[in-house]
Amino acid sequence: MKAFLFTCMLVPWLMVLAASTQRFSGESQLIPGSLSSKELSRYFTDYLKSRRVRKALPPGDEPDDSPIPEGPDASDLPTCLLCVCLTGSVYCEEVSPDMTAVPTLPKETAYLYARFNKIKKISSKDFAEIVTLKRIDLTGNLISEIEDGAFSKLTMLEELSLADNRLVKLPMLPAKLKSFNVNHNLLKTKGVKANIFKKMTKLVNLFMADNQLQAVPYIPDSVRILHIQNNNITVVNKDTFCGSNDTYYLRMSLSEVRMDGNPVVLSKYPDSFVCMKVLPVGRYR
Ligand SMILES: *[C@@H]1O[C@H](CO)[C@@H](O)[C@H](O)[C@H]1NC(C)=O
Ligand SMILES: *[C@@H]1O[C@H](CO)[C@@H](O)[C@H](O)[C@H]1NC(C)=O
Repeated sequence: MKAFLFTCMLVPWLMVLAASTQRFSGESQLIPGSLSSKELSRYFTDYLKSRRVRKALPPGDEPDDSPIPEGPDASDLPTCLLCVCLTGSVYCEEVSPDMTAVPTLPKETAYLYARFNKIKKISSKDFAEIVTLKRIDLTGNLISEIEDGAFSKLTMLEELSLADNRLVKLPMLPAKLKSFNVNHNLLKTKGVKANIFKKMTKLVNLFMADNQLQAVPYIPDSVRILHIQNNNITVVNKDTFCGSNDTYYLRMSLSEVRMDGNPVVLSKYPDSFVCMKVLPVGRYR
């Protein structure tokens, strides 16, 4: 409702503004729709500021803010009114009214922050046109389904966070990811292919804590930090980190491994860590 009111308030205002700009510049075709997203987001920021000022008024002077049961859905509103768009970045955190799907992104978006919303599903169309994306943060949503190919075409994507969602399996991931966070989901071993990370030769941070995994998937050589604590891992073997054939192999990058909160007793598998410069944190007795 608030956002709806905002639209009602904003649109006439933009028209006045457009009209005055028109007079000023002498152009005849200027209409509100032709304002750039940068300008729109500036007006939105001003609007937020004015809202904050209103909130700061003493209680008696506050305008009626009582919630109205049926409001418009977030998908009815243009993304850059609902979210804050700044050159290349789209911020949609805790959007009200509820955001249940990925919003339509402006062309050339590089950074999307859509944390703490109610997104349930990522469809293969959501990011299909936005190959410029470098970072996507979807922490704290309700995502339980990701269509295959939803991320696989994002060749520039370096950071992806799906932490605090409801995933039981992982989608295909783009090869150039440096950081992948899927902490605190419902991942099962069946849903994480053993070789899913194998081709990701730039991967540095891999966070999979607080899931239901029973096995450690293949960890690329480039990984520096691996968090896989609080899962259901019962065994490790030579192949897990060191490979069983190459006795000269040294895993130089890996410098932090969290395996605590798993049933596995690591001291039973002394051969499994010979290639590493640090031992995993975890149970040894
Ligand atoms: C943990 O793994 C064991 C088998 O190793 C299985 O029986 C048990 O149900 C699993 N527990 C959870 C919470 O997934
Ligand atoms: C290890 O070497 C054996 C024999 O040379 C081969 O059959 C096996 O596939 C190799 N294992 C791996 C994990 O490379």
